[in-house]
Amino acid sequence: MINIAVDGPGGSGKSTLAKVIAKQLGILYLDTGALYRAIGYTVLCRIGEEYTEAQVCDLLPSLSVDLRYEENVQHVYVNGEDVSSHIRTQPVAMAASRVSAFPPVRAFLLDLQRDIAARNSVIMDGRDVGTVILPHADVKIFLTARPEVRATRRVAELTEKGIQADFDTVLREITQRDHNDMTRAVAPLKQADDAVLLDNSELNAEETIDAALQIIRSKVAL
Ligand code: DC
Repeated sequence: MINIAVDGPGGSGKSTLAKVIAKQLGILYLDTGALYRAIGYTVLCRIGEEYTEAQVCDLLPSLSVDLRYEENVQHVYVNGEDVSSHIRTQPVAMAASRVSAFPPVRAFLLDLQRDIAARNSVIMDGRDVGTVILPHADVKIFLTARPEVRATRRVAELTEKGIQADFDTVLREITQRDHNDMTRAVAPLKQADDAVLLDNSELNAEETIDAALQIIRSKVAL
């Protein structure tokens, strides 16, 4: 059994990296951000864009969030409905960032994440995996890149999908989400003391994967 934690800000390439490594090592990939996005999406659908922490907390007991792997791809279910195809939008990302600051939301998702790691070899990406979810992970990587680099990548990604994106707007959203995620009182985004910092501002995807594999090999025998 091996547990690998990859934390870092939005757009640093955590999921791209974790997916490739999961495949290479034959272990599970768990995208924890998808869980917060699923809650954010549900809040937007059920309550709307204006909501308080109390309203979100009232909603939690009626929600059952569940992860399933279909052909090795993670799907998130809320009350039996697969919401995976609805959670990749900017409004959902912002809602996820906002609801993730509410302590009961974090508590609600904690056991689900820990249970999966206890039962499987896993590479998990998020914001607090190395600090809170899996403090005893075998390997911890803190993946980051300068905000301007992350914004440039995001614009390229959107352009490729045929979506027009304005660099300044994307950069503003990235900076806003960094700020939310790093300054919240509970489980903020930060590098664990024993995590290895990997800044991929000057690296491409392949170089990032190589660097991460080196870090992993230096910590565990593969
Ligand atoms: O990784 P992502 O962009 O899909 O995450 C969406 C939001 O969810 C992120 O801005 C903050 C929150 N999140 C969190 O608080 N803790 C995690 N482990 C993962 C995500």
